[in-house]
Amino acid sequence: MTKTKMNIGIDRISFFTPQHHMELSELADQHDIDINKYHIGLKQFSMAVPSPEEDIVTMAANASYRVIQGVDPESIDMLLLATESSIDQSKSAGIYVHRLLELPENCRVLEFKQACYGATGALQLAMSHVRENPESKVLVIASDVARYQRDTAAEATQGGAAVAMLVSANPRMIVLEQATGVYTRDVMDFWRPNYLSEPIVDGKYSCEVYLQALECTWQQYCKKTGDSIEDFYAFCFHVPFSKMMFKALSRLEEMEAISDEQKARLHKLGETAVGYNKIVGNCYTASLYLSLVSLLENSPRNLTGKKIGLYSYGSGCTAEFFSGRVMFGYEKHLLVDQHLNMLKKRDALKYKDYLRFHDAYIGVAKGAGHELGVFERNRYLFKGVDNHKRIYEVNENVYDF
Ligand code: HMG
Repeated sequence: MTKTKMNIGIDRISFFTPQHHMELSELADQHDIDINKYHIGLKQFSMAVPSPEEDIVTMAANASYRVIQGVDPESIDMLLLATESSIDQSKSAGIYVHRLLELPENCRVLEFKQACYGATGALQLAMSHVRENPESKVLVIASDVARYQRDTAAEATQGGAAVAMLVSANPRMIVLEQATGVYTRDVMDFWRPNYLSEPIVDGKYSCEVYLQALECTWQQYCKKTGDSIEDFYAFCFHVPFSKMMFKALSRLEEMEAISDEQKARLHKLGETAVGYNKIVGNCYTASLYLSLVSLLENSPRNLTGKKIGLYSYGSGCTAEFFSGRVMFGYEKHLLVDQHLNMLKKRDALKYKDYLRFHDAYIGVAKGAGHELGVFERNRYLFKGVDNHKRIYEVNENVYDF
C-alpha cells in the first residue's frame, strides 16, 4: 500500500529567558581577562542568570504560554519536557507545567534526558506520535539552566532559557524531514553525577567530540538523502557558545566543496542564527532551538521554502543532523515583539549580585529560603519548597512578560 506523505513539524515556537543577566565584561573585569577573549574568542556578550523564582518549570510554562494561545487544549495529548537540570529524580517536571497550563487530563507527560540532545529526541518522538495520530498536537519543551563552577574557563558559557514548540501535522512554520543522521559514543566530555550541583567538563575535548559527531551525522544524513551543503540556505547548530557555531560551519566547509557566495551567505546567516544565543548564553537542550528562533525572527530575507540544516549535540554523547523547510506565511506566526520586549526588560546584574544569585539558586534547589527579594514579573513563579513539595504560582495579571 502506498502511503501519502504527511507534512509534520513545528507549528509554533517561542522562548523564555530569565529576567536577569550579566554582561561578560563584569566577569572579564573580575578575573582580569581581556574582554576580547569573550567577545571575539567565544563570541559571547552576556549570560542569563535565573532568580530563585525561576526554574526549569517556570521557564517552560512561561515559554509555552505564548505557544498555546488560540490552540484547543484538548488537541494537545502529549507534553514532552527535555532537561538536564532536573528538579526531581522521579516526578517529571512536565507534570507541573501541565497543571500550570491547564492542559487536559487525557495527556501523556514525560521528561527526557540526554544532555543537550534531549529536546531533539523528544521532537522525534513527537513527530512519530503525530504521524500515527494526525489530529494530535504535542507540546515539546526544552528547558535548562546552564551552570558551571565559578572561577573556571566554562563560567563564561553559562545561561538559561526554555523553548516551547507545538508539533503538529500541516505545521504553519517548519516541516521537518524524516531522514536524519544519528551518532552515539560513550565519551566523558561533560557529565554531572547526582551528588554534584555543577557538571564536570573537559572543555577542549568536548569541542572536539562535538565536531567529530557532526562529521558522522552529516555523512549519514547525506548518504540517506543525497543532499550536499549547496542544498541548504542556512544552518542552526547546538550553541554552547556562539563561536562553536562557526567552528561547526567551517568543519562542514572543509568536508565539501562550496562556492564563495554560498560560504558568505552561510556565515552571514550564522551571525543571525546566534543573535539570541550571544546574549542568553548556553541553555543546553534549548540552545539549538533558541538559535532556530533567532534565525526565523531576524533573517533579513523571507525564508519561505528555504531548507535549514539542524545539528543537535548532547555530551556523553548523542548527536543528530536533520533538516526542515520553512512554510509559506510562517512570518505571521512569529513572536518577535514579545521576545524583543522580554530581552529589553531584563535587568543587568553586577558581579557581586551575580554571586548572590548563583549561590541562592543552589540553596533554593536544595529546599532552602533566600533573601534576594521578590520579583514577580513573570506569569509563572516558583515560590519555594514546603514539606518537600515545590510550590508554583500563576500570576494571573501578567499576560505580557
Ligand atoms: P578556554 O580555556 O577559555 O579556551 O575555554 P581558550 O583559552 O582556548 O580561548 C577560547 C577562544 O578564545 C580561543 O579561540 C582563543 O584563541 C580565543 P579558538 O582557538 O577556539 O578559535 N581568545 C581570544 N580571542 C581574542 N582576543 C583574546 C583572546 N584570548 C583567547 N584576547 C571553553 C573555552 C569553550 C573550552 C570553555 O569555556 C568551556 O569549557 N566551556 C564549557 C564546555 C563547552 O561549552 N563545550 C562545547 C562543546 S560540548 C557541548 O556543546 C555540550 C554542552 O552544551 C553540554 C551538554 O551537552 O549538555 C556543553
